[in-house]
Order: sequence, then C-alpha cells, then structure tokens
Amino acid sequence: TNASQRRAAGPLSAPGRIKEIASAANPIVKDIRALSQKRHRDETGLFLVEGLKLVLDGLDAGWELATLVVSKAALQGGSEVLTRVVSRAVGIGADVIEASAKVLEAIARRDNPQSAIGVFRRRLTPLSKVALASGEVAVALDRVRDPGNLGTILRTADAVGAKSVILVGDCVDPFSLETVRATMGSIFAVPVVRAKEAEFLAWRQGFSGQIVGTHMTGAVDYRTPDYAAATLLFMGNEQAGLSAEMAGTCDLLVRIPQAGRADSLNLAVATGVMLFEARRKALTL
Ligand code: SAM
Ligand code: CO
Repeated sequence: TNASQRRAAGPLSAPGRIKEIASAANPIVKDIRALSQKRHRDETGLFLVEGLKLVLDGLDAGWELATLVVSKAALQGGSEVLTRVVSRAVGIGADVIEASAKVLEAIARRDNPQSAIGVFRRRLTPLSKVALASGEVAVALDRVRDPGNLGTILRTADAVGAKSVILVGDCVDPFSLETVRATMGSIFAVPVVRAKEAEFLAWRQGFSGQIVGTHMTGAVDYRTPDYAAATLLFMGNEQAGLSAEMAGTCDLLVRIPQAGRADSLNLAVATGVMLFEARRKALTL
C-alpha cells in the first residue's frame, strides 16, 4: 500500500496512521520541532530521538513511540530497515510521518539529518523506587549543567551496570536532543531520577548504603573505600563542585589523585573513573 491508500484509512489523530508531510510549516511539524525546547518537553512528556539505531533501541527497550518521522526519499529508495521500522511503528499504534528533506532538517535543526526521528514518551523513575543491594552502584549528580556530560555519564553508567542516575537540584534536562545524542541509546537503559535537594536529603535518611562523595578537598584516595557495600557515588557541579550541604550528607569524601597542571578532571571523566573503580571486581572480561 502507498501512503495515500493508508492515509485514506483515517486521520492522523487516530493511532498508527501514516501521513505525508512536505512543508516545514505544517502544524504537526511545528509541534514536533517545539520539543527541542525544555518547556515543551515538560508540557507534553515527549522527547526527540534521532536516527534509526536509536529509535530501534527505544522500541527494543519497550519505550512508547508516539510518532515516527521517516524520510520519504529513503523509503522510496527501498530502505528495508526503514520499511520494517515503519510497519513496527504502525503495529504498536504510533503515528508515522513520511517527511520531505526540508521537514527532517527543520525538526533536527541541522543539514543532512538522519532518515528517522522518533518522538518518544519520556520516563522518569521516582526517587522512592531507588534501592541498592550490596555490590550495586548508582550515581547522583549535583546540579549537572552540561548536556554532553550528562549524556556521557548515562552511557558510562549503562556500561558498568549502574542501577540509576539521580539528578539532584537544578540539572540539565536528560531528554534534551544533545543529551540523548550523547547517550548513544543508554537513555533507554538507565533509570533516571529527578529530585530536589530537600527530597534527596529526606530519602537519604532511609538509605542504608554508603554515599561516597567526590571532592577536590577529599582526604581519602578513591581506591581506598570498600565498594562491596551498596554505593551511591555523588558527583559535583562542573563549576562549583558539590555544595557544602550535599558534601555534608556524604559518608566520606574521596579524591582522584592528579599529576600535571589541570586543577580537576572533567565531570564525566571523573564519573567514569569512579564508576569503573566501584565496579572493578564486578566487571570481568
Ligand atoms: N572547581 C570545582 C571544585 O573545586 O570542586 C571542580 C569541579 S570538577 C570540574 C566537577 C566534578 O568532577 C567535581 O565536583 C567532582 O565530583 C569531580 N572531580 C573532578 N576531578 C576530581 C578529582 N580529582 N577527584 C575527585 N573528584 C573529581
Ligand atoms: Co511554544
């Protein structure tokens, strides 16, 4: 069937319908484009995922795909994977847009965009659901501001089998295009929690594991603690580090020794070093 035959089956508002859109001025395109702004993501609970591989990662992980935007040219060019993703999307009730190059460029805000863009429903895990058994590790981030850092941290947390990433205080949005890009698909694998400082401090009262904070004034070498206990690694803001209040809630403050001229490590690099140390015994080739 071609798009016009399938379109005849119903309007776009009915689930699982296919619609062709050529103009970037189309209101549906405008709504999707608006998801590059945090306000619109918060209002709708939706976010953008670029590229066929990432869309497939999301589908495989069972996340809800609301709309799939695909390149009409690539479909007509006979892309088999793209055709399969379209039928999979239709099968689970997602709307499908067969888009012109202009429409894809407008949504992705770049030249030569990917041939598929997914609009997924975001998932956040409540802090009350975070519980760690011995040997398990999670990460808390105090006011992380850089989308690339957050994406890299989510990817690394996924790679070591960390149980969750807790965003404490005023953090960058984990569902921004830039963060999602940097996660390389791990956004679908690691539970993400958002918590205000007060909520985190209240939850902390009932947390029986250890909170290992990282601090430039930490007196303990990061390789010293026994990570066999349930461990929450607490990382500081890119500029200011851990606030005094957050540092004060940690069981111990560790430091990664450095040589050379650099004052400190990049946040995502420091998180990687900490995660691999905490998981050193758990990870084997
Ligand atoms: N000017 C900030 C300070 O003095 O805290 C530097 C912040 S650093 C760029 C960002 C975060 O990465 C820190 O809060 C800490 O969590 C982590 N970090 C970076 N280098 C570290 C090191 N050598 N030891 C422990 N943590 C480190
Ligand atoms: Co608006």
